[in-house]
Amino acid sequence: MSQQGAAAPRKIIIDTDPGIDDAMAIFFALASPELDVIGLTTVFGNAHVDVCTDNAIRILDIAGRADIPVAQGAGRPLAMPYRGPADFVHGVNGLADVPLPAPSRAPHALDAAHFIIDRVLAAPGEITLVPVGPLTNIALALLLCPELPQHLAGMVIMGGNAFVGGNASPAAEANILNDPEAADLVFGADCPIVMCGLDVTERTIMSSEQIAGIAAIGNPRAQLATQILPYYRDFHLSHGGPDGIHVHDSTCISYLLAPQHYQAVHHPVRVDCGQSVGRGKTWPATRHALSAEGWKARRAVTILTEVDSAAVVALELERLAR
Ligand code: BDR
Ligand code: CA
Repeated sequence: MSQQGAAAPRKIIIDTDPGIDDAMAIFFALASPELDVIGLTTVFGNAHVDVCTDNAIRILDIAGRADIPVAQGAGRPLAMPYRGPADFVHGVNGLADVPLPAPSRAPHALDAAHFIIDRVLAAPGEITLVPVGPLTNIALALLLCPELPQHLAGMVIMGGNAFVGGNASPAAEANILNDPEAADLVFGADCPIVMCGLDVTERTIMSSEQIAGIAAIGNPRAQLATQILPYYRDFHLSHGGPDGIHVHDSTCISYLLAPQHYQAVHHPVRVDCGQSVGRGKTWPATRHALSAEGWKARRAVTILTEVDSAAVVALELERLAR
């Protein structure tokens, strides 16, 4: 069949801390011909970074994509100690404590920040960064290469909470609370940024019934999903969540594939880097963007505020079955 007229797939690098929902997002992207995953970079977060790196390689092995490079990144935040693994959410091994084969290979020779810079400068204007963990690697790349934003197609970030409460503290979302200083730097980058925060991810629900239905899908990606998702669902159930899971990291992928299922507002964003109860809160300048010190030099971020949950979950499940 002729490919004439077909849009080239969008090149993305997923910066990730796998993580159960990270695994789902990676599978979602790999099964989507609209996207070309040119690399994974890993960061501490849901687990220690070496665990996350092993998991990223395992996830690619399971998907039959050992050709995709994995570059290991930061093991701790920029300016504070690591808060520690979220084993009560993702398991000690980051993937629901399911026993998994050893990763097939070592990570890339470059660390995550240098890998990002290398790939972006080699394809100026073509690459979208998709960070779904703490923003440390992206901040390090920006510090090493301040002109990086002008060479990016943009960033689609899972993190933050604009108009709702936090999930890791009353104020803050987990990825941002894991490195507020990095997040504040990244939200100030001069390139198109989309914030997929709790405003939409906690309203995107994959139900227990839908999770149970994945067992009928025969491919290895779905088989891993069947093993790991119940652990994540049980965390939600035991913490007053839905009878199902919040779809966090996959929101970046569904936004890239089907932005028509989302609504957004556009405001500059700062991150609370103080040492008090508000630490890690993402603050949109909704009323004083042009005059407020600290916000006014910043470009507006596209902050997702509404989602057609049924449509984006159906899209993810359809791709999982491919
Ligand atoms: C985010 O925190 C992590 O636990 C998840 O993987 C997701 O990236 C949700 O707050
Ligand atoms: Ca994550």
